[in-house]
Amino acid sequence: MVLSGIWRKNENSKEPLPENISVSHDKAVPPQAVQELCASVGWSRREPELIVRALQNSLAVVSIWAKGKDIKPDELIGFARATGDKVFNATVWDMVVRPDYQRAGIGRLVMCELLKELDEYQIPLVTLYADPGTDGFYKRFGFMADPSGVRGMFRERIDY
Ligand SMILES: CC(C)(COP(=O)(O)OP(=O)(O)OC[C@H]1O[C@@H](n2cnc3c(N)ncnc32)[C@H](O)[C@@H]1OP(=O)(O)O)[C@@H](O)C(=O)NCCC(=O)NCCS
Repeated sequence: MVLSGIWRKNENSKEPLPENISVSHDKAVPPQAVQELCASVGWSRREPELIVRALQNSLAVVSIWAKGKDIKPDELIGFARATGDKVFNATVWDMVVRPDYQRAGIGRLVMCELLKELDEYQIPLVTLYADPGTDGFYKRFGFMADPSGVRGMFRERIDY
């Protein structure tokens, strides 16, 4: 754990980031770093070429990096992206924080940065699929189950 103490970056906070943490909105995140971060929380492996294409086709991509010490390279510790039409809708995908860094404000930082970027388009509706046990996290940013009972539905290609 590199963050010192309990660090929290709130939406309206002017508090600077710890020196060892940086934020990027660049879509060119190395696919191996994304793959490795996703694997750290048990998500299944995706092909690097497909990750690159998915990121390039995304509306917004946020990555959080911890500075490497000595010769160690910087480490990807938080990530999320959103797809959308830049007008009516956007959907958040792949929200993830490396286990060693969870519950230290990194997830909040990722979401705040992502929503700030989506707000530039003034998109009225942002949706997401919350994994079991993560509703409480998303509720902190104003997300809720649809009050009128509208449900997300899936159709998966079986030959994919
Ligand atoms: C869910 C996840 C992204 C949260 O990231 P995080 O860095 O631990 O979150 P933060 O420390 O920034 O927490 C922000 C707030 O949400 C709360 N929170 C975090 N995880 C939570 C959870 N699973 N349930 C309820 N509240 C949660 C924190 O207590 C904090 O609240 P506070 O601001 O009132 O103190 C992270 O746990 C994760 O990557 N999990 C594995 C992958 C995953 O399930 N992703 C979601 C896919 S839908």
